[in-house]
Amino acid sequence: MTKITISKAAEFIGQEVQINGWVYNLRSSGSICFLQLRDGSGFIQAIVNKAEVKAEVWELAEKITIETSVELLGKISKHPKKEEYELQVLDIKLVQISQEYPVGKKEHGPDFLLDMRHLWLRAPSQWAIQRIRNTVINGIYEFLNKQDFIKIDSPILTPNACEGTTELFEINYFDWTKAYLSQSGQLYIEAAIFAHGRVFDFGPVFRAEKSKTRRHLTEFWMMDAEAAFVEHQENMNIQENLISFVIQKVLEQNQNELAILERNTEPLKKIKAPFGRMTHAEAVKKLNKLGSDIKENDDLGADDETLLTQDSEVPIFVEKWPAQIKAFYMKRDTSGKVALCDDLIAPEGFGEIIGGSQREDDYETLLQRIKEHKLPLGEFQWYLDLRKYGSVPHSGFGIGLERLVGWICGTHHIRETIPFPRMINRIRP
Ligand code: 4AD
Ligand code: MG
Repeated sequence: MTKITISKAAEFIGQEVQINGWVYNLRSSGSICFLQLRDGSGFIQAIVNKAEVKAEVWELAEKITIETSVELLGKISKHPKKEEYELQVLDIKLVQISQEYPVGKKEHGPDFLLDMRHLWLRAPSQWAIQRIRNTVINGIYEFLNKQDFIKIDSPILTPNACEGTTELFEINYFDWTKAYLSQSGQLYIEAAIFAHGRVFDFGPVFRAEKSKTRRHLTEFWMMDAEAAFVEHQENMNIQENLISFVIQKVLEQNQNELAILERNTEPLKKIKAPFGRMTHAEAVKKLNKLGSDIKENDDLGADDETLLTQDSEVPIFVEKWPAQIKAFYMKRDTSGKVALCDDLIAPEGFGEIIGGSQREDDYETLLQRIKEHKLPLGEFQWYLDLRKYGSVPHSGFGIGLERLVGWICGTHHIRETIPFPRMINRIRP
């Protein structure tokens, strides 16, 4: 007997196969039992016909409860009209009869579902989101590898801050020093470009932000990319090509998942480079006209981001921010007042998905910035060294994986896009 996954059913029409999985729903008329089976690769209806199976097989079918794990033997048939397949069951093995399943019978609130995250992951919507997340991860790797970026891993335990000291998770590093959980691998992968030219990391990062919004997690996954001899404009080109590529991959590979999520794919089909570009000053002007009270040295709020992109089909780069509200490592334009940086704002109200910039490559200037920001100079000496031995113009950016997946899936709150979310008020399960 050939053991197959549900995703391969189309290749086995008319043949007897074995499928292993879980019954996520069922109904019985007394003489026919319809089992909705899930195996991770997909979903299929399995039909047990009392008149056509042995009495023992029918008895087993009657014992099945929701989430019971099974091995089913049967013949694959195709639905006469739809691209759907069915399994006409011949034999059943019950692997474990599930106890009464607590999730899914009625409408549950978000807190209950998050408490049940270990089980909720099985729900079709949650299944679909994680499949899309997987495509996004692989798409990022594929694009960057093709563009000659190699993956280089940055440490998670660090003695210094990358993005600002107010949101650091601090831990005792044995009994001799303090350490912090990484907020971004950027500073470390900057070191690696001098060996490899173009690099990226991809891993969990941590922010002890006290933000309780639908876009903030305390642990999330970031892809940082960094490239030597790349300046601000080219940096944005790489970002828009990467995002366009990843969305194309999801449209190619996850139609079924997008349908389960009832995601309207029309806006996604329009995501093609080039994206919009406007300076921070232009964005402020536009927002003021639209009724926002944002001022020239303000960060964009979530409402501002939504307003700004409301009439745009593609994401918008808000570039060249006032240097005083951006990170110490960003290179400035000749005026010295504007950082050569960009935030990429997704359309449809999904907000900032990327933060990037050209980096300050001059030793004295960077030293000055570190002092202005009152950062511990000793911990940044190695980072300053990079500006002493063959310094070059270079740029990079960081994508928040959950923000990107949330936009593509159209999920309201990004907590659903990570298997086990950690937030200001949640660390379990
Ligand atoms: O804009 P951020 O803070 O940029 C950096 O960390 C740079 N060092 C990256 C780089 O240049 N290599 O963070 C990058 C992205 C944001 O655009 C956002 O998508 C995501 O990370 N992000 C968060 N996602 C979820 N929860 C949070 N609390 C996030 N904070 C940032
Ligand atoms: Mg940012």
